[in-house]
Amino acid sequence: MSGSCKFECVTCTAPVNIAVIKYWGKKDESLILPTNPSLSVTLGQDELRAKTSVAVSESFKEDRIWLNGREESIESPRIQNVLKEIRRRAHKRSADSKGESKLFQHVHIVSENNFPTAAGLASSAAGYACLVYSLAKLFAVQGEISDIARQGSGSACRSIYGGFVKWKMGEREDGTDSYAVQVAPESHWPEMRALILVVSDQKKLVGSTEGMQTSIATSELMKHRINLVPKWTDEIIEAIKQKDFTTFAKITMRESNQLHAVCLDTYPPIMYLNDTSKLIIRLVHCINDILGVEKVAYTFDAGPNACLYLLEEDVPRVLHLVKHFFLPAQSNGQPSFVTGIPVPESEAFTSDISNIHLPQSQGAIKYVIHTKVGPGPQVLTDPQESLFHEDGTPK
Ligand code: DP6
Repeated sequence: MSGSCKFECVTCTAPVNIAVIKYWGKKDESLILPTNPSLSVTLGQDELRAKTSVAVSESFKEDRIWLNGREESIESPRIQNVLKEIRRRAHKRSADSKGESKLFQHVHIVSENNFPTAAGLASSAAGYACLVYSLAKLFAVQGEISDIARQGSGSACRSIYGGFVKWKMGEREDGTDSYAVQVAPESHWPEMRALILVVSDQKKLVGSTEGMQTSIATSELMKHRINLVPKWTDEIIEAIKQKDFTTFAKITMRESNQLHAVCLDTYPPIMYLNDTSKLIIRLVHCINDILGVEKVAYTFDAGPNACLYLLEEDVPRVLHLVKHFFLPAQSNGQPSFVTGIPVPESEAFTSDISNIHLPQSQGAIKYVIHTKVGPGPQVLTDPQESLFHEDGTPK
């Protein structure tokens, strides 16, 4: 428990994950049960993380939540589902012990991200994973908790683990077999890197919850996808285990393309990719053509930002080409165009540039985040890390 609090409190961080087999579609909206399994890579928390402090006290008059500096309604059904489930499990566990009194006290929750919220950067995944992990620590809930995170936001269940993570679809109607499992730890493939190309940091036009509902209701292609995805999931898990980058990259790109084909097949159509996203896709294929094999893979969630997966040795070359074709804006307000893990100076790759016939554009990519595969949520023991003042209000 963090020491500076005059009440019982816990502070944790949780990572972002970017799927290579996407979750798209629910068979139960309230329990958040998916229509297909999915698989993601957990990213490094130095670059992308949610941080949450949770506290209980006799003196709190009601449950309250502050997100990124603003108080929000605690009545959101998803937050309520998470709180109820944590309290239910904690109650079950402590029924015979004395630690029960705090179960009847109110909670205060403060959470913030170190990256733009709702920029299509899986902020809800990191946020709900962090909330559930912190509450589980506070109330001493043990055992599997990814199924609780799932009830906050589906993709959040995968942020409960580090490395490469599968969300098992499950078959039971009550959702008890729909949770995340680690396929390989973050240490398994240390050369794996991610470059997040931030095309837009605006809130997305069609949220993923709404988008997938419309796809399920209207897309014919969706039925085909649901049958195909389990096979791709097994194949990519095997590629990860074998560290077979080529297979990993091919499945990742085809899977992302299929998701966006389903979006276009949705009625009315949903278009998450913009012209810059499409140019990024073309650039990646040009680079792979030059290198003679798939060395870079793109994937897009419900927005125009790209996540490129590649190996460490290829980062300087790919980044050089990204910067050549997507020149930084003159003044974009960012301290630097590329943030995150430092990249060594590269040569000019002039022959690559002359072999790639694409237009150059300036300012289309706002900035790039360079990160790697990272661990799951962490408890911060330093009291300075708490997001609470001593009276239980946010700092
Ligand atoms: C495109 O987890 O945000 O990022 O369960 O409705 O909260 P809800 O949806 P959410 O959907 C994420 C969709 C995706 C693909 C993925 O991360 O697998």
